[in-house]
Amino acid sequence: MKPPTAIEIPSELHRALRRARFVAVLTGAGISAESGVATFRDAQTGLWAQFDPRELATPGAFARNPKRVWDWYAWRRERVASVEPNAGHRALVELERQAIEFLLVTQNVDGLHQRAGSQKLVELHGNIARVKCSQEGTIVEEWSAADGEVPRCANCGAFLRPDVVWFEELLPEGALAAAENAARSCEVLLVIGTSAEVYPAAGLPMLAHEHGALVVEINPNETPLSARADYVLRGASGTVLPRFLSAALAP
Ligand code: OAD
Repeated sequence: MKPPTAIEIPSELHRALRRARFVAVLTGAGISAESGVATFRDAQTGLWAQFDPRELATPGAFARNPKRVWDWYAWRRERVASVEPNAGHRALVELERQAIEFLLVTQNVDGLHQRAGSQKLVELHGNIARVKCSQEGTIVEEWSAADGEVPRCANCGAFLRPDVVWFEELLPEGALAAAENAARSCEVLLVIGTSAEVYPAAGLPMLAHEHGALVVEINPNETPLSARADYVLRGASGTVLPRFLSAALAP
C-alpha cells in the first residue's frame, strides 16, 4: 500500500482503528519532542549528535567515570521534570480509555505518558526518575546527591545508577515479553516517534505485521519502517495523533 503524502488520513484507517479490539502503541523519543525533550538521533538537536553514547550510556562508561554518567542523567532527569506532557501523550490516554484492549509500549524513560494519565503501559528502557544499586539491582527510593558525589547503596556501598537500560544491557524481561505478546495479538499497532533503529524494540512492528496487525507509522521523517508500514502519517505526533484519533473515535 502506498503511504499518503502530507497528513491526509484515509477513512479506511479510521474504520480499522474503530473496529480493532486490541490496539497497541509503540512510542519513542519523538512523541516527547513537542514537550521540549530532546530526541536521540535527530540531526543537530538529537542527544547523540551532541554526546557520545559510548561515554554515557554503557556499563563500561559508568565503570570508567560514574560521576560523568550520573551527572548527565541528573541533568536529563531535571529537564524532564520541568516539562509537561503534550497533546500526543494526551491523545493516547483517550485511545486507552476507548479501546477494548490496549497496551502502550514505550522506549522513553521520561515518564511523560504516566504523567499524562496512561495506565496500561510498559517501559522497555526503564525510567530516568528511578534509581537502583549498580551491583544488587534493587530499586532505591531514598537517596541524595546533594554533596555532588555519586550516591551509594546503603546496603552494599556500590554506586547508585539510573534505572534505565544502557547499550549492551538486556531489556527488563517482563516488559519485553508483554510487548511481544501485544505485537502478536493486536489488530492495529501505532508506531510513533521512533527511528526504529534500536532492537529489540525496532523488531516489534514487523512482529505485529507478521501476525496480521495493521502497522501505522506516525513520524515527520522517514525511517527504516516507513517502506514496510501499512500506513505512514507524516507529521508531528502532537498534531497528527489528536486529529487522527478524534476522527477515528468520534461516536
Ligand atoms: P530517536 O531519536 O532515535 O528517534 C526519534 C524519532 O522521532 C525520529 O524518527 C524523528 O523523526 C521522530 N520525531 C521527531 N520529532 C517528532 C514529533 N514531533 N512527532 C513524532 N515524531 C517525531 O529516538 P528513539 O527511536 O526513541 O535508548 O530511540 C530509541 C532508543 O535509542 C532510545 O530509547 C534510547 C536511544 O539510544 C536507550 O537509551 C537505551
